[in-house]
Amino acid sequence: MKDKIKQLAEEINSRILSNREELEKFRIEFLSKKGLIPVLFTLFKDVPPEHRKEIGQMINELKLRAQEIINEAKTALESDQQEEASATDLTRPGLEFQLGARHPISIVKNKIIDIFARIGYTVSEGPEIEDDWHNFSALNFPKDHPARDMQDTFFIEKDPEILLRTHTSSVQVRVMENTRPPIRTISPGRVFRNEAISARSHCIFHQVEGLYVDKGVSFADLKQTLYYFAKELLGENTKIRFRPSFFPFTEPSAEMDVSCNICKGEGCNVCKYTGWLEILGCGMVDPQVLDNCGIDSNTYTGLAFGMGIERVAMMLYQIKDIRLYFENDLRFLKQFGSIV
Ligand code: DAH
Repeated sequence: MKDKIKQLAEEINSRILSNREELEKFRIEFLSKKGLIPVLFTLFKDVPPEHRKEIGQMINELKLRAQEIINEAKTALESDQQEEASATDLTRPGLEFQLGARHPISIVKNKIIDIFARIGYTVSEGPEIEDDWHNFSALNFPKDHPARDMQDTFFIEKDPEILLRTHTSSVQVRVMENTRPPIRTISPGRVFRNEAISARSHCIFHQVEGLYVDKGVSFADLKQTLYYFAKELLGENTKIRFRPSFFPFTEPSAEMDVSCNICKGEGCNVCKYTGWLEILGCGMVDPQVLDNCGIDSNTYTGLAFGMGIERVAMMLYQIKDIRLYFENDLRFLKQFGSIV
């Protein structure tokens, strides 16, 4: 019996308890009801009386020692945990949070919306998939008229003709069909043309359309509105000039140039040494278009204008290649300021 006790004492002293599982295993093996130490107590009844005092003492000591080992291991494990917790350095700076930046097209679109909002223009939108009526016919592009060739169209369906809108002028028609004058609205959106992609043209791009219909709207209003717009967008000293042009839905029609803000009119390679940059098309809404949309052209007149956002952004930021807008190269996109 004495040998057995000594052997157990050696064993418990040699155990290493480095985690909670080992500790629990130790407790069950030596101290639980059927553990090795309680078993010694049951064997104790067979010990002859003259050895009982000594052996009883040895078993008790063994039990105390086992408990002591468990307690020591517990304390050690707890302090390890505390140390681990206090190893977290709360003063360390956090990981840098990467904020995105707005796309230059969105920045310029928002600028344009903001400038026109200040003189009472609302924003209206229309579908990108259009029918022939809203994209062409209502805007005075007769069937088989060469004016349709100005805009290479992606057709989706032949009969009836469904297509990807080639310009945001289609939204003009929808607005005039659904609202009564006075109408003062701009329509930003994506447009599609079946064109070869190059530094200067793309098959997907963005336009902003403008429309003002009321009694007595005149060409003077058109000039004044666009003059205000050019100065707000490009600066106080910006000059504008109008050149006669043709669009089926406006009469008279014009194209507007702004003075080149890079060379200040001196001539540079951006304005091709003319001192002027073409920025938009405009005109007085053709009376036939008003009538097509259910607005009486004897009572009302209207002005309209349309511009490409990519083009305006190229001018503002001196971007030389339209393809950059669509490549999602972060080195390009990060240059236009953060989202906030
Ligand atoms: N829709 C024309 C285009 O895509 C731009 C345009 C020109 C819009 C004259 C207008 C306008 O509203 O009056 O080329």
